[in-house]
Parts: sequence; structure tokens; C-alpha cells
Amino acid sequence: MIKQNFNKDWEFTFDHDLDHFNSFGFDMYSVATGAAVKILDYSNWEKIDLPHDWAVRLPKNPYANVFGGARATTEFNRAMSEQRSKLDKIYNIGWYRKQFMLDESMDGKRIFIEFEGIFRDAAVWVNGEYMTRHTSGYTSFIIDITDHLIFGQKNSVAVRVDSSQQEGWWYEGAGIYRNVFLHISDPVYFKHNKTVVKSYTDGRVEASAVIVNDTETVFSDTVKWSIADGDVTVAETNTEVTVPPYSEVTVRADLTVPSPKLWDVDSPNLYTLCVESGDKAEVTFGIRSAVFDPDRGFFLNGRPLRIHGACVHQDFGGVGVALTDNLQYYKIKRLKEMGCNAYRCSHHAPSPTLLRACDELGMMVMDEVRTFGTSPEAIEQLTALVERDRNHPSIIIWAIGNEQFAVQDLEWSKKLAEKVSRILKGLDDTRAITYAGNNGNTDSGANIGVEVRGINYMRNNGGDPGNWIKNYHEAHPTQPIIGTEESSYVLSRGGHINDLSRGLVDCTGNVSMLWGTTPRGWVQYSEECPYFAGSFMWTGFDYHGEGNPFVYSNPSSSFGAIDICGMEKPVFYYYRSWWTSEPTLKLAPHWNYKDGETAKITAFTNCETVTLYVNGKSVGTRNPAKFETPTWEIPFEAGTLTAKGVKDGKEVTDELYTAGKKAEIRVSDVLDGGDDGVGIIELDAYDENGRFCPLDSTAVTFELTSGEIVGVGNGDPVSYDYEYKPKREEIHRIFHFSDGSRVITVPDKAENRAIRRFDMMRVNSPEPWLQEGDRQIAAYVFTAGAPEIKEMTTVVSDVNGYEYIEIERLGGDTDVYINGEKVGDNHRHWRSDWPNTRPFRFYYPFGDDEYEIKVVSKLTNTSIYPCEPVSGHVKLGRLIDDPWTVRLHYGRARIFVKGANAGDVKIIKR
Ligand code: GAL
Repeated sequence: MIKQNFNKDWEFTFDHDLDHFNSFGFDMYSVATGAAVKILDYSNWEKIDLPHDWAVRLPKNPYANVFGGARATTEFNRAMSEQRSKLDKIYNIGWYRKQFMLDESMDGKRIFIEFEGIFRDAAVWVNGEYMTRHTSGYTSFIIDITDHLIFGQKNSVAVRVDSSQQEGWWYEGAGIYRNVFLHISDPVYFKHNKTVVKSYTDGRVEASAVIVNDTETVFSDTVKWSIADGDVTVAETNTEVTVPPYSEVTVRADLTVPSPKLWDVDSPNLYTLCVESGDKAEVTFGIRSAVFDPDRGFFLNGRPLRIHGACVHQDFGGVGVALTDNLQYYKIKRLKEMGCNAYRCSHHAPSPTLLRACDELGMMVMDEVRTFGTSPEAIEQLTALVERDRNHPSIIIWAIGNEQFAVQDLEWSKKLAEKVSRILKGLDDTRAITYAGNNGNTDSGANIGVEVRGINYMRNNGGDPGNWIKNYHEAHPTQPIIGTEESSYVLSRGGHINDLSRGLVDCTGNVSMLWGTTPRGWVQYSEECPYFAGSFMWTGFDYHGEGNPFVYSNPSSSFGAIDICGMEKPVFYYYRSWWTSEPTLKLAPHWNYKDGETAKITAFTNCETVTLYVNGKSVGTRNPAKFETPTWEIPFEAGTLTAKGVKDGKEVTDELYTAGKKAEIRVSDVLDGGDDGVGIIELDAYDENGRFCPLDSTAVTFELTSGEIVGVGNGDPVSYDYEYKPKREEIHRIFHFSDGSRVITVPDKAENRAIRRFDMMRVNSPEPWLQEGDRQIAAYVFTAGAPEIKEMTTVVSDVNGYEYIEIERLGGDTDVYINGEKVGDNHRHWRSDWPNTRPFRFYYPFGDDEYEIKVVSKLTNTSIYPCEPVSGHVKLGRLIDDPWTVRLHYGRARIFVKGANAGDVKIIKR
């Protein structure tokens, strides 16, 4: 099986940008019309490479679903109709197309297309033929498309993606946001995700695979099995197989790896199993043991290991959920730097690349399914997840659900948990299973239906964990316990102000949710309780959406130890202090208070002693207890604040300076994007003495001299700034009136509004559409009932550079002609309930000439719909590309790029 990356050269458009001929329908069962057809002129579609998330590219809008990151991509606000009515458009349906050639020599092969993740509800066509529908936004799927392809000619794949329905309560993105692959194999091939490796720490390996024979003859062959450590083969064996025509057979082999190098968090040794029988399948695996003990916590390879975990959502600044492979690795590396050894895929199937990164970098994983239960959909999701992921050594435990408030305490959900566990064990019997329950010392339901009790929030139910977890443990002495979710406090990356009405929180982590607790409130318990396996904190990184504490509509959350762009917050050093042995000392928030103010300074440290100096003079020495964060309240004095600490005889220092005004923006490379990845470039504010400006929040305008900007971010959870620069629309409106004789063009400026209102009055129209403040302006009026044809003509000049015509809420089946030639119509978009009539646009490149624009509307469907009078307008528009801007937040911001590095950034204004 050859696996080819299929990410490049796709075309994208929103559904509402399509005209009648480019929208979607079925002519016959399985054969499409519209955007799904085999051949389509889609030269106006946007050229994109995958992964792609259209949601992150939309402006944040406070009327959209703020839980979901304030992007108008879901119908979440449907109930909140007042809010939703303020949204101009909902961008819930996107189309993707790609054309590809398959060489004639490939005729006879089997070709599969694999989508690792689409958010969500995807319909797929190949050469205009309907292939499948896949609704989950998180599981991967693969389709055999061979029978619908033509070799030696152009083929097309079309995907319609509908993000309307949410699956979670966080930002979920929209679009084909993970990798796509083409798999090419012989007609006798190894079935996808069915090659399984089960290994033991003594080196024994039990391998199995499924061979499919898609031919009319019997297939008999030797199956060659081998295991390689890098380039060196360390084990091999042969078995025989016979597969009848059009059948499949499971093959198995036992192998032994001599003196196996175990997979561990500090030494992530990996092996490759290769199975060959004509076709070839390869699987990366690791040899290790992972055991949860009810009395002694967790053991990796027989060694006790506390789980220092982080719950993480899959998104990131600037790119949304469309993380390139290198960004997945970057996030895992950042967590490792903090001392984290485990990652919880909250709350859904992760990207395969993320699991590869965890395998290779030594990060344990709690892999989680989105839908809890035994419904067909839930079981399908579970099966897809486990079959795809079970060979990854990084995965030490499965989670079958999270906080199902409505059912988790019921006897019924115990049965569900038991049944899901049984099904899961049938797919993988090598790992423990948990359920993440936030119901405290509840002695029923899903908690007791799983092998390992998963606790979300040890202080839930008003609990002192020392008491209730002990009680639970005593009542269930054979059930190991893990902290599946912990902490949930909010903090910013800098600053010392807590003002919830403005969404502002300080950077020390002292504001916790009702159900959560500060770091001090859980880390010690999690570290020291003997029968506790450790915990996953909420969260490693900030994420779009869930802008707790919800007093202000923050479009992003602030739970992370690291912000959404990968920049660490001070509390990062708290975890580093207790999860690594590195001497650590970090002062927060800054030394830029105002004269006369009392500064509150916190140290995140594991030092035994810490002495603080203001301009060289000691202000005291502390001997912080384990897990404590010493704080000082001292009069501010401009200059230098120094802390010196000692741990195990080793000295460590941190220093803060009072900075003046920003004089310089330093541009530096954080992450190289390579050929296919996204690079990260950082902008930092410095004063004229070269001191970092920790409070600077000015905007920086910039461009790249080469390469492409993918997005920007600054880690400010409160900000409604864009992450992807929208093009500015310049609009030229053309108005028409009912008497037909009068055609005027009025630029949409405030001073013209009186004229517009006056002219509308003259139309003598019925009431409903003539409302003060309504942004509709009169076009013409159909009287209810009678079929009518209206025709208007106007001549425009000075429109060089305008590139599209948009018809907005213009009633009737409307055709538009330019200089006598028809250029578009709204037949499909026209609906009699005019407030919902969707605008549509079509492209027309205007030049220097004069253009006669004729609009003909026919009210032809009055017999079908009781028709109300309608109004609307026609406008010409163009998009203007201003340079990108990003605001600094606590002195820092990041630019996400393709094919560029710091040397390519040209600052225009700062
Ligand atoms: C938990 C939940 C998470 C997130 C978190 C915020 O209860 O599992 O998904 O919502 O609360 O504190």
C-alpha cells in the first residue's frame, strides 16, 4: 500500500457564494448536480492547501456562539434568536474540490481516499458520484473509490462540509482540518487499520492483519513478517495464507524481539512491524507495560510514575483546528518542557499526527471518544477510534466519556459503561478504561462501570479530597483512581489586574472556577496520595471558546498554563517546579508598577530558599514549603527586581526590569515551518535600553517579503481582533425604483441616508419592508399575488477593479445582464420569505469602460408561495487587501507563516 499525501491544490468556497448552477442537488440517485458534479468551472473558488479551518478565518463576532470561539459557523445560537438575528450570515456550509490525474498504469490497483478529520457532517462525491456521508467531526474515515475513477484522465473529488451542528461546547472549527491521503494498493491488500501489534516487555510480539482478496481467483502466498529497530531487522518469520476470491482472511504471527528497548517517556523507543504478501503494511509500535494499581497508582514498565497530565483541546492560535504536523509536535514539546508526561485528548478522537508526536517524543496519552453510550453512532465512533489508534504505545488508557451530567449517576449508565468497556476490550484488551466523572463521591453509575475511576475535580461536591476520595477508595478497594480533569483556574499571561467585568484576570492563577481549584489546591494531593495515579490539568493550552468565567464574552478561554499561541504563562513554572527536578525560579507579574504602588510579586519555584532584591537591596529571604508559591508585597521602586534561589546547592536567578516606552520590535524565529508546515515568528517590544516592555499592547502593521501569512495571535483571550485578516469590502450600490423610469446610484454614506429614505417613501410601498433603521433600501416592489416582471437598467462607470455583483434580498427570480449578456441569476436562492432570501454573488471583472447593467425580476412562483412584497438591492464590490496588523499583548505577539522566517518580516508601522 502506497500512502500519498493529498493535501495540496484544493479549491474552496462557501455555499452561499455559489449561484444556481453551482449549488448542489441529485439528478438521480448517486449522481450529483451543482458543486458536486464531475467537471466544474470553479476558477473563482479560493485556492487552498489542507489542513484548512474556515472558522478561524472569520472575524470574531460577539453575536455568534462565544462558547465556540465567537465564529458564525454553527447554529448554536438558534434559540437565541435576538443574538442570531444580528449575524449577517452564518458560514456553516463550505465546499471543497480537487482535481487529480491517475496514470493509466494504475488501472487495476485499488485506490482509497482517507480523511483524518472533517468538521463536520461531510458528504463526498467522486467524479460526481455520491460516495458517503460522515457526520462525526472527529473520527477518521477511508473510502474505496476505485470503481468511480477513470485512469489516464482528470478525476474530481468534491466534499460538502456542514458545520451547523455542534458536537462539543468549545471551539470545534469548520472544514477539512486534518490531513487527507490517497492509498494505492494491489487488488489483494492489507485492510486499513486492521494490522494489530500486541507486545510484552519480555519481547514477545503477537501480530495480526487482515488480507482482502478483491479478485476472482484464489490468492495463496507466503506472508512475511518482520520487525525493525530503525534500519535493523530484529525479528522475522513467515506464515502461509490462502484467501478465496472476494473474501478476507485474518493472518497471525508470533515474533520475539530480543532484549527489547522499552518505550518510556524518557526513552521513546519505537519498532516497525512490516507484513508483506504482495502488498505491504507497516505499523509503528513500542514495547511497554502500563498498569494502574488500586493501592499504588500508575506503573510504566514496572516503575511507579505519577501522571503529570494536561487536558488539551486540539486547536491553536492563528490556525484554529487546522494544525499542520509540525505544530502538533510543537505543542507536545512545549508540554514536555513544562514537565508534563501525559496528554488527554479532551474530549474526542485526536489527530493521528498528534499520537505520532506523542509516540516519538515520549508523552503518554489518554485517548477519548466523543460520544458516550451504545448507540450505533457511539459504537461506530468508538470502533473507529480504537481500531485506528491501538498500536500507539503512547496511549495508556481509553476514556469512554466525559461528564455526562444527565446520566452519569444512574444505574443505567453503569450498564452503558460496562457494555462499552466490553466492546472496547474486544478491540483492544491491553489498556485500562476510564470514564471522566465530575460527580464526586458518587457510588453509582458510570463511575463504577469502568475499570479505573476517573475523577474530574477533586474538590467537587464541596469535597476535601483527603476525605471523599479516601471514602470512595475504601468502598471500591479494587478500582484504581486517576484524576481525569483538575484545576480549572483562569489566568492571563501577564498583568496583575482581576476585573471580571472586562474579562481580565491576573497571571498568577488565583481565580478558580466553582468546580476547580488553584494549582496549590490539587497538585500536592495528586502528587502525594498513594492510591492516586496522578492528574490531567485543565488545560495545557488556552483554546478558542469557553471564555470562562463568562462574565465578559471572552472569545477564548484562559485556563491554560500556556497561551493559545504557545507562549508560557508564569504558572508554567509552577508545574516545571514540581514535575521536573530542574531548579526553577520565575517571578511574576512584572516590575512595571506605577510609582507609589505596592507591588505584589509571586515566585514560582522549587528552591529551598529565595531572596528578593530591589535594586540590589535585599527585601527578605523565604524558605517556601513544598508546593507553595511565595509572594511579597513591597513598595514599587523603578529599576531591577532580582530573585536568587538555591535548590540542592545549585543557584538559580530571575530578574525583572522597569521598562520605558517601547522603542523597538524584535522579530525572532520560534518554529521553522519547513516545506509543509507552519512556522512561528515572534514579535517582542523592547525599550531604548533593550529592556523587554511587559505591558505593551500597541498594534504592529507588517508584511512579508516572501512566503505567506497564515494567521496572527497574541494570546489575549478577551480580544476580538482577527486571527486571519479579512479583506475589506468596497461597495458600490445600484438602486432601482418601482416606477422603472428612475434609476439612481447613491453611495452608501451617512449623508445620503435621508435621500434614500425620502425616495423609498415615494415608492408608495406597503409597510413591512419600510422600517426605520432597516438596512434594506428600496429596490422595487412587487404587489402581492400577481405574477409580474420588473426590469431595470442603469449605466455605471468608474468601476475599474470591481470584481463581483451581489444580489441581496431582491425578490423574484432575478437575472442580471451586463452589456446585453446574462452574467448570473438568483433562481435557486430566491425564496418568498424574503428576510431569509440569501444574498448571492457572482464574479465579473469590471474595467475602465461604461457598463449597462440590466436586472430582470420575475415574480413567477406566486402560485406556490403566498408572496409578500419584497425589496433588495444590487451592488458591485471589490476586496481590498490592507496589510496585516497584530496587537501585542503583554509585550508579545506571534505570526504564523508558510515559507517564511523572521528575516522576511517587514514592519510597516508600530
Ligand atoms: C469541565 C469540562 C471541560 C471544560 C471545563 C472548564 O467540566 O469537562 O470540558 O468545560 O469543565 O472548567
